Amino acid sequence: MDIKIQKAARKAPIADAVYLFNAINDLKDAKLSKDELGFVRKELKLKRKVVRINRYKQNLVLVQVRHDGAKDTQHEALRKQGNEALAVFNKARSARVVVYSSETKEITLAFVEGMLLGDYQFLKYIKEADEKENSVEEISVWSKNVSGSDIETLSIITEAVYNARDFVNEPLSSLNAVKFAEEVKKLGAACHAKVEVFNKKKIESLRMGGLLAVNRGSIDPPTFTIIEWKPLNPVNKKPYIFVGKGVMYDTGGLSLKPSNFMDTMKCDMSGGAAVAGALYAVAKAELPVHVIGMIPATDNRPDGNAYVPGDIVTMLDGSTVEVLNTDAEGRMILADALAYAKNYDPELVIDIATLTGAAVRAIGTNAMVGMKVKSEKQFEELQKAANKVHERIVEFPMWDEYKETLKSPIADLKNIGGAEAGAITAGKFLEHFTDYPYIHLDIAGPAFLSKRDSYRTEGGTGVGVRLFFEFIRSKAGI
Ligand code: BES
Ligand code: ZN
Ligand code: ZN
Repeated sequence: MDIKIQKAARKAPIADAVYLFNAINDLKDAKLSKDELGFVRKELKLKRKVVRINRYKQNLVLVQVRHDGAKDTQHEALRKQGNEALAVFNKARSARVVVYSSETKEITLAFVEGMLLGDYQFLKYIKEADEKENSVEEISVWSKNVSGSDIETLSIITEAVYNARDFVNEPLSSLNAVKFAEEVKKLGAACHAKVEVFNKKKIESLRMGGLLAVNRGSIDPPTFTIIEWKPLNPVNKKPYIFVGKGVMYDTGGLSLKPSNFMDTMKCDMSGGAAVAGALYAVAKAELPVHVIGMIPATDNRPDGNAYVPGDIVTMLDGSTVEVLNTDAEGRMILADALAYAKNYDPELVIDIATLTGAAVRAIGTNAMVGMKVKSEKQFEELQKAANKVHERIVEFPMWDEYKETLKSPIADLKNIGGAEAGAITAGKFLEHFTDYPYIHLDIAGPAFLSKRDSYRTEGGTGVGVRLFFEFIRSKAGI
């Protein structure tokens, strides 16, 4: 992470600064001249919420905080304003910014979060990166309502999102399944979580047929990574398990994608990246909750030995699957992970995956699709966390009628349904491999953006990291 946040030790009268205010009276500290005050009043009349004042030696950004409406909506507006303010300072080539706030902790943190998330860049492969690099390096927060540990937690969350975005943005040529597993191991070491990586031999001995079938067209071996955070006195007896799809690149396999659909398919491990990021944050923040992450990983390619449409695959749990489209590979590798999760007698399993184009067509990039099995109350809590961090979930039904199209005349099920309701039939396929309270999340829409959307930067968004962290934090009651 190239940006640092800290609690401001003292007021810095001529530093570049943001003032969060409600009434004009709250701006006393900014020592505005008469002219400046007049300007601010005019801007506010024009309903502008982010007002910029350019002094010779100082850039000031004044942000009016509204106190009407729902909290979640207000916080999201603040994140966006944080991102807007940050852009002003980067444009002015400021290095350090002080945020002055007499507002609540939640309001102040939402604003700073927008600044931090919006400052992300992926410049690793740009030769003249210096010129393009954002100038803001340090944000100091001046607020009596925000503690050092609040800042520390926000910093951890940001770092985790940055890590997840980096994983997604890294192309296959430098991040295959083995390398990804190694990187997750490093992350685990940095947050004292236990990381175990199953290699191909181990995966074969366990008979993870789905993962091995998808891997057959690859020149690289598959991996199955398990990250475990088990604190001394967890609030839960049975673990929460997150399962992330780790398709390092999805060509479609022999059911090859047209190239315009293939271009961005390095993003097909976004679920795995979210799980790695979330576990990093939970462990680093030492939340008192027992959490396990699982990432089955391989790329999906056509090759001499690739699995073919018509193949019948025996999965880890013994079920047989008739493969009718090798591009429906995510569910093949996730099914084995979901079956493996049974060994832990989990409280709840949530999988997160860039699973279907149907999810994107249905709801676009603004939300993820969610489906639940035997987890009424957990799903409600996850929705609450989702609204809080603005990684929203649209619920789709798990009605059994949708299972009809997965029937196969020669195997236990097919790996594709009919032409309709593709996001739902994919969820129904996965449900087959579960016997515990379960939630399925399809992030094919929000995982990767072709164009920046406020603090959600272009490319990998790291969606899921903040959602899972908030969900686990709510379990810990903090
Ligand atoms: N990785 C894709 C889904 C995807 C699409 C992710 C767009 C991100 C953006 C997945 O493996 C896939 O190809 N799904 C197929 C399933 C179909 C063959 C039943 C799809 O959605 O077309
Ligand atoms: Zn696919
Ligand atoms: Zn895929």
